[in-house]
Amino acid sequence: MSEKAILEIDGKKYEFPIITGTENEKAIDIKALRGATGGITTIDPGYKNTGSCESAITFLNGGEEGILRYRGYSIEELADKADFLEVAYLLIFGELPTQSQLDKFHADIKANSHVDEDVKKILDGFPKSAHPMGVLSSLTSALIAFNPTSVNVDSEEDMYNAIVKIMGKFPVLVAWALRKRTGQPLDYGDDSLGYVDNILKMMFKKPNSEYVVDPIVSKALDKLLILHADHEQNCSTSTVRIVGSSHAGLFASLSAGICALWGPLHGGANQAVLEMLEGIKEDGGDTKKYMAKAKDKNDPFRLMGFGHRVYKNFDPRAKIIKVAADDVLNSLGVDDPILEIAKGLEKEALEDPYFVDRKLYPNVDFYSGIIYRAMGIPVEMFTVMFALGRLPGWIAQWKEMRENKEPIGRPRQVYTGENSRSFKEVSER
Ligand code: SDX
Repeated sequence: MSEKAILEIDGKKYEFPIITGTENEKAIDIKALRGATGGITTIDPGYKNTGSCESAITFLNGGEEGILRYRGYSIEELADKADFLEVAYLLIFGELPTQSQLDKFHADIKANSHVDEDVKKILDGFPKSAHPMGVLSSLTSALIAFNPTSVNVDSEEDMYNAIVKIMGKFPVLVAWALRKRTGQPLDYGDDSLGYVDNILKMMFKKPNSEYVVDPIVSKALDKLLILHADHEQNCSTSTVRIVGSSHAGLFASLSAGICALWGPLHGGANQAVLEMLEGIKEDGGDTKKYMAKAKDKNDPFRLMGFGHRVYKNFDPRAKIIKVAADDVLNSLGVDDPILEIAKGLEKEALEDPYFVDRKLYPNVDFYSGIIYRAMGIPVEMFTVMFALGRLPGWIAQWKEMRENKEPIGRPRQVYTGENSRSFKEVSER
């Protein structure tokens, strides 16, 4: 017998089914609420208690153990044993690929990685000072004009082509956004390289010298991209799904998701963390002052890289990145005092009642920037690297929403404005 929730309003009882997911998460199905109650809805700013969909892609549990799985595989195993393209395939198509499936996916991506030369004219229109996330969102949307079939959301063939096109072109746009800022000529990669090695070459090859991929940097970037690849219904993924629910194309939905990720409370936090740590270093390493600011309700300062809507214990990705930060910096021979400041801040916060009581732990953004910086990636590109990792997750979630034929997203509200009133002539106001 299926479980039910009973709601009593003005002495009348209403029953609603309770659905249970494969990991025993339960939700009250209120699809019939407005109709049954004559128009009563729910309200939940920030959707802290509201599920937007049923999804088979990513499971995370914010409890004691802090679980994250992509299609049932643990983030720990995937970060340790898989590569980013394999994980992208897993998220998008639901299964780990056979070697031939992976080879075909990569070949299709390489065959579609050319970005029309006219896109460079759009890039030229930006000042060097433009934030790369704004450039990336604009160029992603511009790709629609050069790939008109990418909007045929009802064609399985056109959708597959749109997926391999954006998996191929997005890294080029990322590299061009960086090279625009550093005044480097725009470069293509090399089809003989692996997916991540190719990204590094496009980003860092100098015009007058060969580029040799550092295997330590390549493996670290591959791991970081895996750790960022999906995270169920976060702000930017929910944006991608709701834009796609109007039957807007994949590229338009991704462009919107990039803008949502840009915010400092979301993906922009990795840039904000480094700027915060730099500020603390400039301030003589006075972590206690910044801890006090973070706890002061009159101070808008937050400890960036701390806290999470779902994880109320360690973000499992933060644990993996913290270990990787030590390994990468040691392997590259980089001695970055910022890392020690971060570890000191973490230790203090984990012993401070304000953070302990609110279950605020380091999240994915707390240590990632330290590795990006050691790899030579400028701080304003950190959130772009997050978007590069999150791309397959956004694609997977958008594809699932389309395949599930979900209705257009259109939340309700409770109106609290003026009641009906008549127009006043300006002479009477
Ligand atoms: C990502 O959703 C995802 O999955 C996102 C993400 C993904 O992979 O897609 O995991 C990636 O975006 C990680 C989060 C990156 N953002 C930051 O690091 C910014 C700093 N953290 C926050 O602003 C905050 O913790 C959020 C936005 C992450 C979560 O906010 P919630 O769940 O809405 O919590 P809240 O704002 O209601 O805060 C609850 C309490 C408040 O204090 P009280 O009013 O109870 O006294 O905790 C406090 C907050 O003031 N608080 C913090 C804090 N985070 C929450 N206080 C100081 N520093 C912080 N970082």
